[in-house]
Amino acid sequence: MTTNNGLRSRQWFGATGRSGMAYRSWMRSQGFTPEVFDGRPVIGIATTWSELAPCNVHLHRVAESVKRGVWQAGGFPLEFPAMALGETLLRPTAMLYRNLLAMEAEELMRANPLDGVVLLSGCDKTTPGLLMAAASVDLPAVMVTGGPMLNGKYQGTDVGSGTAVWRFEEELVAGRMTQEECAFAEGCMARSNGHCMTMGTASTMASMAEALGMQLPYSATWPAVDARRYETAQRAGQLVVGLVRDDLRPSAIMTRAAFENAIRVNAAIGGSTNAVIHLLAIAGRLGVPLSLDDFDVLARDVPTLVNLQPSGQYLMEDFCYAGGLPAVMRELAENGLLHADAVTVTGSGIGANVAEAPCWNREVIKTAAEPFQPAGTGTAVLRGNLAPGGAVIKQSASSPHLLKHRGRALVFDSPTDYYAVSNDPGLDVDEDTVLVVRYCGPRGYPGMPEVSNVALPKKLLLRGVRDMVRICDGRMSGTAYGTVVLHVAPEAAAGGPLALVRTGDWITLDVPARTLTLEVSDEELAARRAQWQPPAPHASRGWTHLYTEHVLQADAGADLDFLVGASGHEVPRDSH
Ligand code: FES
Repeated sequence: MTTNNGLRSRQWFGATGRSGMAYRSWMRSQGFTPEVFDGRPVIGIATTWSELAPCNVHLHRVAESVKRGVWQAGGFPLEFPAMALGETLLRPTAMLYRNLLAMEAEELMRANPLDGVVLLSGCDKTTPGLLMAAASVDLPAVMVTGGPMLNGKYQGTDVGSGTAVWRFEEELVAGRMTQEECAFAEGCMARSNGHCMTMGTASTMASMAEALGMQLPYSATWPAVDARRYETAQRAGQLVVGLVRDDLRPSAIMTRAAFENAIRVNAAIGGSTNAVIHLLAIAGRLGVPLSLDDFDVLARDVPTLVNLQPSGQYLMEDFCYAGGLPAVMRELAENGLLHADAVTVTGSGIGANVAEAPCWNREVIKTAAEPFQPAGTGTAVLRGNLAPGGAVIKQSASSPHLLKHRGRALVFDSPTDYYAVSNDPGLDVDEDTVLVVRYCGPRGYPGMPEVSNVALPKKLLLRGVRDMVRICDGRMSGTAYGTVVLHVAPEAAAGGPLALVRTGDWITLDVPARTLTLEVSDEELAARRAQWQPPAPHASRGWTHLYTEHVLQADAGADLDFLVGASGHEVPRDSH
């Protein structure tokens, strides 16, 4: 952390002559007294606040609590904006911009006079984006996620954000809900600040940050509007000043052991498949060896302990009151499924942090002896001639009777093509059909959007069919459910075998055997490949051009090839 025998911020604020005068003088335009330049640690607060990212809109208030803590501990807090990525509004997908946020935040942290950082995130991509940035700069860092919304309430029942949207849409298409009822339900679902309160990607990634040791115990689960979230933020502000003094950096916290803990926690909470891509990308920044297969191998021994939507019944508010993530990690630790020594931002091992964590509701947080779902029902990694680079399926969100399935392919080159005919009563489809929707990968869409769980054809919904096998090179919202094979790699746009499937081909999915097989001979596939033409590029300039030229496949975390790794926090040379 120290540079030239001092904090790196001293190279700005401790400088003499014209440069030092300029650095201090312009900062004093904000009314800071000169003592703030006395050599105390300067703490950046990276906030992804924006009215265009509603899940993060309260982060400016969270930042105020962090600042209190930093001042208390003798630091100098400075808040700065980092790209806010709102999952719901950004087109074509917030995932197109995760790496841009990571790149922007990395450069801001390095280029400014910062000795440590607090990372304020919430909506899906903001948590991994900021962790990737922190990993590549490797300044002492603490994350504070914004917390989930309060439970949605509609007609006397709890409704989960995201998960209920999929259900309402099916009810609407099947004629069991009116448009007016859906419009009313919208307001009942999102009724406070915070991110989605199902175990979707935001809740999952907040839990991953806590499991990795990068945020304080209980941070993932306090509701966004709970006073204890603000208390936790203040504590994080105090803590980061100590991390600077102790020189405890992300590279010492996010080790291979920490990633193994995160993977097991993800299995125990029934977390989002998106965690696979994000953890691979974060590990890539740190040089921690982690592969797609690690997710399958490490999760096989882990039962699902948390009964939360979309796999289960409850929501994040219930999870919080039941004991939160520490109660889950304690259960894992007591069953030999946690590396207890993995160090965290508290300075202690994660095992010590959770050793006394109580559970107040065994309906929500189950025990390993009587789990919500048995070991081996988490995210599975599939391979085969249709996905030589791998694919994933969330077993706990799938229909058990479809986990071994053989059916004929019905192929679409985009979700748009599919939805153009999905309501057609004459569509040649039945419940055994395997829907293939492709060109939805990192390069193909571009950005690998959450479109893989396409709604079922109307004729099947009207017959009461609730699930069918779908295969896609895109992602699925963590709030969604269904027997959907995701993240097929290589993607169709990169010339993966998915591009060669034709309607009528037989496909076999065998999740217990971890295989995904296209029953077409190698000779026939070679003949089809000879005819295949790659799609035209999406852009000839700008970010989308840079992204599609450099994005890695899903099995490598979909980072940009030139962003993998770290550049550290060496102070760049002077600006004037
Ligand atoms: Fe932001 Fe779900 S839309 S977390």
